[in-house]
Amino acid sequence: SLGMVQETGRQEAVERLAAVISECRKCPLWENTHHAVPGEGDAGARLMLIGEAPGKQEDLSGRPFVGRAGKLLEDLLAGIDLSRDEVFIANIVKHRPPGNRDPRDEEIRTCTPYLEEQIRIIGPEVIVTLGRHSSRYILSYLSVEFDRITDIRGTVYSCSLFGHPVRLIPTLHPAAALYNPAYREALEEDFRIVGRELA
Ligand code: URA
Repeated sequence: SLGMVQETGRQEAVERLAAVISECRKCPLWENTHHAVPGEGDAGARLMLIGEAPGKQEDLSGRPFVGRAGKLLEDLLAGIDLSRDEVFIANIVKHRPPGNRDPRDEEIRTCTPYLEEQIRIIGPEVIVTLGRHSSRYILSYLSVEFDRITDIRGTVYSCSLFGHPVRLIPTLHPAAALYNPAYREALEEDFRIVGRELA
């Protein structure tokens, strides 16, 4: 069927792009890393999750959100009856910044064409941005600015991104919720909104 053909084409396009990202030398971040972390999941996913940058475990494995924040992310997905292989998980920056420092504006500018290409290929219906860096980056396309992520979290922004109609939902970064029960509750609340948007 046409659906099958489209699915295969998307998966191949995502994998071709991942191979390019693995060789990327456009900024110096790669020099201190073991692996690029292009992102992974279902290339036909309705839901895409966008984090910040790989941490230590992600750099060692080449896979996004495999550390403690990743476990929490899997729990949040399970809460809305999704598993990580049913969604697509990516980051705005594809190589780990030294010591997990924040990615610099220049690094984000250099790296995000890869994420944009992933969004074009996958065409998700809903994009959840995890934390203030990825939320700031995505919302800049709508000229939406914010001071604190807690001011806008859980808001559904309907828009068109790279030719696709999409709903953007910014929320907190799961790493921020590891030791903060109030943040964890906020994340659970926002994921219930995500579940409703996908229903
Ligand atoms: N935090 C992120 O933002 N991304 C990962 O892939 C892992 C932890």
